[in-house]
Amino acid sequence: MGRKFIVGGNWKMNSDKDQIAEIVKNLNSGPLDPNVEVVIGVPSIYVAFVRSILTETIGVAGQNCWKVAKGAFTGEISAEMIKDVGAEWVILGHSERRTIFGEKDELIAEKVAHALEAGLKVIACIGETLEEREAGQTEDVVFRQTKALLPAIDTNWENVVLAYEPVWAIGTGKTASPQQAQDIHASLRSWLTSNTSSEVAENMRIQYGGSVTASNAKELAACPDIDGFLVGGASLKPEFLDICNAQV
Ligand code: G3P
Repeated sequence: MGRKFIVGGNWKMNSDKDQIAEIVKNLNSGPLDPNVEVVIGVPSIYVAFVRSILTETIGVAGQNCWKVAKGAFTGEISAEMIKDVGAEWVILGHSERRTIFGEKDELIAEKVAHALEAGLKVIACIGETLEEREAGQTEDVVFRQTKALLPAIDTNWENVVLAYEPVWAIGTGKTASPQQAQDIHASLRSWLTSNTSSEVAENMRIQYGGSVTASNAKELAACPDIDGFLVGGASLKPEFLDICNAQV
């Protein structure tokens, strides 16, 4: 299969410099499985600071960026700025950007296109709400969200990771069961085979996100189409190392 396991830690709007120093100390001391790629999604204001103290073997991501390089967009940051301070990744399309800040598929696609053009790697988030799942619309939703990204990604698939995050599992403690997650990951890979190529589908890393903890990570990691995690709350805790090492 050959897909390198990748675990993202999404700190969201949490942490301060003292807490960051503690988390980074924990990450720098490890141990971390060398066969796992780890990326930390940091609040914009701390991206440069974290990049300056975190071991180079761990990637740093912005949690969002605007769709152009510069201009009159007060309060926004650009992909170029994230790259300029040494970070390599950006998380885009997170469900909180979609539900709280009203970001639609089209805007997310424009952001993805620009971030890739600026030389960042992208963790692109998709996922259904509880209402959509209960209405049997899960696949329709995640296929629609992924289809919107195709023109933005074009042939740059090696710099993209998909994060399937069922909204009903985010921050709720209601983790999707391994079978629920595997089913959607497998459907996404099959959709990619039909709508891009078998090579893209085979190589695409699909993270699961939504209440991942040290106690459920191993069972989830054992699923053939789960290639990693995007972790929120637990990424701020020492157990994040256990999650990163879950596939060992
Ligand atoms: O981006 C990851 C996040 O949405 C998952 O949050 O706290 O359920 O792990 P959490």
